Amino acid sequence: MFKRLRRLRINENLRALVQETNLSPNDFIYPLFVVEGSGIKTEVASMPGVFQMSIDEILKECEYIQTIGLNSIILFGIPDVKDSVGSECLCDESIIARTIRAVKEKFPNMFVSTDLCFCEYTDHGHCGILDPKTQTVDNDKTLEISAQQALVHARAGADMIAPSGMMDGIIETLRTALDENGFTDLPIMAYSTKFASAYYGPFRDVADSTPSFGDRRSYQMNPANRREAIEESIQDENQGADILMVKPALAYLDIVRDVRNNSNLPLAVYNVSGEYALLKNAEKAGLIDYERTVMETLISFKRAGADIIISYHAKEACELLNRK
Ligand code: PBG
Ligand code: ZN
Repeated sequence: MFKRLRRLRINENLRALVQETNLSPNDFIYPLFVVEGSGIKTEVASMPGVFQMSIDEILKECEYIQTIGLNSIILFGIPDVKDSVGSECLCDESIIARTIRAVKEKFPNMFVSTDLCFCEYTDHGHCGILDPKTQTVDNDKTLEISAQQALVHARAGADMIAPSGMMDGIIETLRTALDENGFTDLPIMAYSTKFASAYYGPFRDVADSTPSFGDRRSYQMNPANRREAIEESIQDENQGADILMVKPALAYLDIVRDVRNNSNLPLAVYNVSGEYALLKNAEKAGLIDYERTVMETLISFKRAGADIIISYHAKEACELLNRK
């Protein structure tokens, strides 16, 4: 005899009772991009609804998103001046440090994570210090300045630090530096499994971080590799990461499930710029029911095993969740 699975789909209340995964404003981290100046809010051409904002505009945005239950952001700094080592982000007056202080002063309940990398700060656009001979990122030299950058974020009052450069040993380095300086309670969210993805294209426009030569394939992961993807996250767990991450999200849901099944740490996905741009532009072209497509995409991350969703859709998703 066959089973009538449709029996549990008969009406909305019953469907809600048996729903296995849910979305809530608590699931989201909203990325914000900060630039110098005041009164600046420049929309990114490839990402409608995403802006480069000066600190005063970031504060207005924080005020609004708290009203819809969105209490967690991740900050990306875009400095005016760049050099070969990214010095801007190594001092306590860096744009990101000033932003953290401003946000935490006005909105102490906003949970402020910071992306820790060098590609926005270097004139060559790579994620660390270059080895002059090979012209690739020097892993261990980059670890040293990463520890300095982490302390800048920590002293400014960041609530969580998220290193995104895919340097080997970064979690151990940051954990040690933070602990030695009294920041034993500051969590690290590792961009633990991060692929060298074409889906980052629009982000590099907004963050002004496109490499001036070459690509990131010598430090970010090959999209073809599954076992290595698990190993990357487990390495970061063993070094002391508090939260793991898979990035991008949508084309890597198998990896999300793999990491979920191999670790008991909280797991984040980064629903990246290219994924956002596809849906936004499909909406503009009148091709999809945008709201339903967004929510279906976001719930697929939870179903795959993610606890936390970093997404440019976070604000509109929370608005929708509030409306229901
Ligand atoms: C910086 C960084 C990138 C993203 C987050 N942090 C870009 C990259 O590695 O090139 C991608 C975010 C997105 O595409 O939305 N290392
Ligand atoms: Zn980078």
